[in-house]
Amino acid sequence: MKKVKIALLGFGTVGTGTWKIINENREDIIKHCGYDIEISKVLVKDTSKDRGLDISRDVFTNDIRDIINDSEIEIVVELMGGIDPAKAYIMGALNEKKHVVTANKALIATHGKEIIETAEQAGVKFLYEASVAGGIPIIHSIKESLTGNKIEEIIGIMNGTTNYILTKMAKEKVDFKTVLKEAQDLGYAEADPTADIEGYDAAHKLTILASLAYGHPVNFDNIYREGITKIDTIDIEYANEMGYVIKLLAIAKEKEGTMELRVHPTFISKNHPLAAVNDSFNAVFLKGNAVGELMFYGRGAGDLPTGSAVVGDIVSILKTRENPYIVKQFNRKNPIKRVKPMQETRCEYYVRLLAEDKSGVLGKVSSIFGQHGVSISSMIQKGERECPVSLVFVTHYTEEGNIQNAIEEIKSLSEVVEISNIIRLENGKKY
Ligand code: NAP
Ligand code: HSE
Repeated sequence: MKKVKIALLGFGTVGTGTWKIINENREDIIKHCGYDIEISKVLVKDTSKDRGLDISRDVFTNDIRDIINDSEIEIVVELMGGIDPAKAYIMGALNEKKHVVTANKALIATHGKEIIETAEQAGVKFLYEASVAGGIPIIHSIKESLTGNKIEEIIGIMNGTTNYILTKMAKEKVDFKTVLKEAQDLGYAEADPTADIEGYDAAHKLTILASLAYGHPVNFDNIYREGITKIDTIDIEYANEMGYVIKLLAIAKEKEGTMELRVHPTFISKNHPLAAVNDSFNAVFLKGNAVGELMFYGRGAGDLPTGSAVVGDIVSILKTRENPYIVKQFNRKNPIKRVKPMQETRCEYYVRLLAEDKSGVLGKVSSIFGQHGVSISSMIQKGERECPVSLVFVTHYTEEGNIQNAIEEIKSLSEVVEISNIIRLENGKKY
């Protein structure tokens, strides 16, 4: 049996998942690629830590040179996370003509172009299926199976931690901090969970998918981003009453050479296929001009689901080991020229505010909306004897700039105590 040596950089949630899959599915993997994979080195910070697995201590190192300088290691699998030193280690491996597999979306979203070009120049593969939506094979699908399409729209639930939190808040009314701790214990959250709850992680993933779908690197800084920390259980209850659920959506749309790129909490109809995506599950809803609507659904985080994508990339490299072919990743001749500023984006909006329960207040607020071209589709007032009272408006489609200007003026009314929340709706009436 032909053996091939690989190294893992990192042996946390995804590293151990990858190790388990390679060991437990060894016979099937050999049938697929013809190679017996030997994990000959594993880079960790702490080599003395008990990993609770039947793995020789000699395999562990904390010196990257043991891997980069070992000419027998053909594939380096980076599962440490972060930019520094992960980027330097990956570049070192590529420059030594080793293939690289990674799950590091933060790194690809911010330095992907440079790394991909280095791999292409070195004539080796750089694969990163696990970086977006964990176990869902969305990158391969966009790069290969959907290339006969112009991709018009990608709408995804791409962060398991926030989906887990929003699902628990909706179903069990558990408070935010408790659920976040559960998601961390389950291995879903990033080392710094701010990346999850503030939407950076979903924005990293959207950068990667949009770059592949549109054949040109998208700048991460061009993605509008809001997290879920401002979502209150009251918003979830209002959403429910009105026939919606709240999800953190990552949205990319292309129209006439202009792209919309945004990540934010969103009301979607309970009838939308994405509304049924709960817990740590992810889904990517995609529209191609030939295929129409598609939805990919599966586990977006965790050891084995993410390890599944990592091992798929390793096997894919081994299948073409004797005759590797490198396909340029960004080859579109006429790249998208313009990312639409958020101010110009058109959405429907949910606006919740607290105001004094006096006659004329509703009229004043409605009139300001009207003056700014914002038409109201529905309104709810609750707790009539309470002061202040909660007022909820849902608007028709309007430009973001209009809603922002209206809100600024409404805020200045003496009867308005606070603007409690503004949440966008997606495809409000369609489903
Ligand atoms: P993790 O559990 O925190 O594990 C990180 C591993 O990297 C640990 O083994 C750690 O060593 C090692 N490490 C970190 N810094 C190092 C350094 N400077 N030198 C040597 N070793 C170092 O992380 P994870 O959750 O597996 O995530 C790994 C990557 O996969 C990240 O890029 C993450 O975004 C991505 N990802 C994660 C998931 C998920 O569900 N967790 C899903 C998709 C993608 P010690 O063990 O000695 O501390
Ligand atoms: N922290 C990420 C999530 C891990 O919760 O989705 C998977 O990329």
